[in-house]
Amino acid sequence: MTTFTGALRSSLGKKYLMGFTGLVWVGFAIGHLIGNLLLFVGREAFNGYAHFLETLGHGAAIYVAEAFLLVAIGIHVWNGISVALVDKSAARPQGYAVNGNAGGRSRKGAASQGMIWTGLTILGFLILHLVTFKFAYLWQSVPDYKLADGGVTRDLYGVVVARFGQGWYVAIYTIVMLLFGMHLKHGVWSAFQSLGLLNKKTTPLAVNAALALAVLLSIGFLFLPVTIFVMNQSFATPAGGLHL
Ligand code: HEM
Repeated sequence: MTTFTGALRSSLGKKYLMGFTGLVWVGFAIGHLIGNLLLFVGREAFNGYAHFLETLGHGAAIYVAEAFLLVAIGIHVWNGISVALVDKSAARPQGYAVNGNAGGRSRKGAASQGMIWTGLTILGFLILHLVTFKFAYLWQSVPDYKLADGGVTRDLYGVVVARFGQGWYVAIYTIVMLLFGMHLKHGVWSAFQSLGLLNKKTTPLAVNAALALAVLLSIGFLFLPVTIFVMNQSFATPAGGLHL
């Protein structure tokens, strides 16, 4: 057990854990984006989906998933900061060697060197995101919504549409989603590398797949707020509107 925790604390173990926990979040992001596309279907579909997730397994499934995501992001952020600090102190005496070419086609582009900053920005975004969406009901009045099947849930659709009607909020999303794309572009292939899944042949494939996924996710997440902002009137708000 001690050897196991020791291995996880080694720099290789830290990178392994970062890769694994990063991929857990990529999986979540793919599912979350697909679910969010229901905003285009309408209020009933989006609120019904949120209600389904909240009540799955008598309400237990969401807590298990949230706990898993929380532990994963905790490990990811903690290890990310500690790897960045170690890299920084290692770079001081011989900066040119550490910042030099990574061998062959260099992978040390802007996205790679800015991982800590794009990562911390995404963390800040997540806090804003949870406060304004998931926990909105704690500090603003969120009307109930009666589903077609008789169930009652919060009108999350109304919350999202009202928020995405605010220019400053959409501007933050736009900037963060671009940084999110940069973080993913480097993070995804490097996760596969840390997990020991790549060789000379498969590395270029992983780099291109990571780029495709990064573009797909950041454009996908960007598409929602921008479309809702531009076509706000078409995404009907509840009677009286929400007070943000
Ligand atoms: C622009 C697109 C997005 C929309 C419309 C959106 C919408 C929402 C909504 C409505 C909730 C609250 C769900 C509930 O209370 O049941 C939520 C929760 C959440 N969102 Fe997003 N989101 C977006 C982008 C993102 C991104 C890019 C991330 C980061 C990967 C993210 C991570 C989360 C997390 C971690 C939760 C909490 C999930 C839970 O505890 O069940 N979201 N999102």
